[in-house]
Amino acid sequence: MDLRADSLLKLNDGHTLPRLGLGVYQMARCKQAVVHAINHGYRHIDTAALYGNEADVGRAVREVGVPREQLFVTTKLWNADQGYERALKAGEASLKQLGLDRIDLYLIHWPEPGKRRDSWRALIELRKRGVARSIGVSNYTVAHLKELMANSDVVPAVNQVEFNPFLYQRELLEFCSQHGIALVAYCPLARAHKMNDARLLKIAGKHGKTAAQTMIRWALQRGVAAIPKSSDMRRIQENANVFDFVLDTEDLRQLDALHEGLRTCWDPTHVR
Ligand SMILES: NC(=O)c1ccc[n+]([C@@H]2O[C@H](COP(=O)([O-])OP(=O)(O)OC[C@H]3O[C@@H](n4cnc5c(N)ncnc54)[C@H](OP(=O)(O)O)[C@@H]3O)[C@@H](O)[C@H]2O)c1
Repeated sequence: MDLRADSLLKLNDGHTLPRLGLGVYQMARCKQAVVHAINHGYRHIDTAALYGNEADVGRAVREVGVPREQLFVTTKLWNADQGYERALKAGEASLKQLGLDRIDLYLIHWPEPGKRRDSWRALIELRKRGVARSIGVSNYTVAHLKELMANSDVVPAVNQVEFNPFLYQRELLEFCSQHGIALVAYCPLARAHKMNDARLLKIAGKHGKTAAQTMIRWALQRGVAAIPKSSDMRRIQENANVFDFVLDTEDLRQLDALHEGLRTCWDPTHVR
């Protein structure tokens, strides 16, 4: 599989999304980390209103010296702002915080009961107004996606969900590919809970790579984008150094088999 640092996923609205991104949840020295990441090949930054660092991300993107059109910024609508009118205001506020020309991808952060339909209508309107170029959802299960598509002609460009070898959401991935929804893997490193797993380390060792690099590469080869987070300058570089090796069929099979339904973040399975 020929993947490069600037490899892109095609979205159903004609735009593209860089396959490797930097997540900035609980990011220390956010602006410095984003600048460092961009200087080491990252082209996609994942923030959210909830993270409180949209302004730092925007400043880094404006000042780093890489043309704006080569960079991709995702942010998300927080739960307290769901519903039509509030979501419109929240989208405008996020854009203002970022201080950019547009949000490249605006996501509904969570499938909030009773609010999903109105929030989605608001995102469609924000796209029409040019506030967001692409729109999507996060933490949506197959049931939430089916509900959305039954009520709207606009299919989300992206579903961002927890996804790593220990939570291989195969059914959700298949559903998304069938419907042209790109999947973005959050917690691609399982929040560092599994770095010492002997089976993972064996495959990593075979390629002279680390556990983190192996998990990121697995996600990329499974056809999704990945947004690992690190506040550490060395690990930010390490996590981007995943384009000089290829996991073979047997490696992939063994990594797939690590699935144990591990959730390191929140679980939307039972959200009605
Ligand atoms: N949509 C959602 O609901 C949602 C939920 C969760 C996350 N996200 C997004 O996804 C991003 C990534 O998820 P995450 O931050 O929760 O988890 P993650 O990326 O799976 O793991 C981050 C953890 O791994 C450590 N780490 C990073 N690189 C490492 C390496 N090479 N070796 C060893 N440890 C390493 C980090 O510590 P150091 O910082 O010390 O390196 C941090 O503790 C978030 O930042 C956020 O943007 C979205």
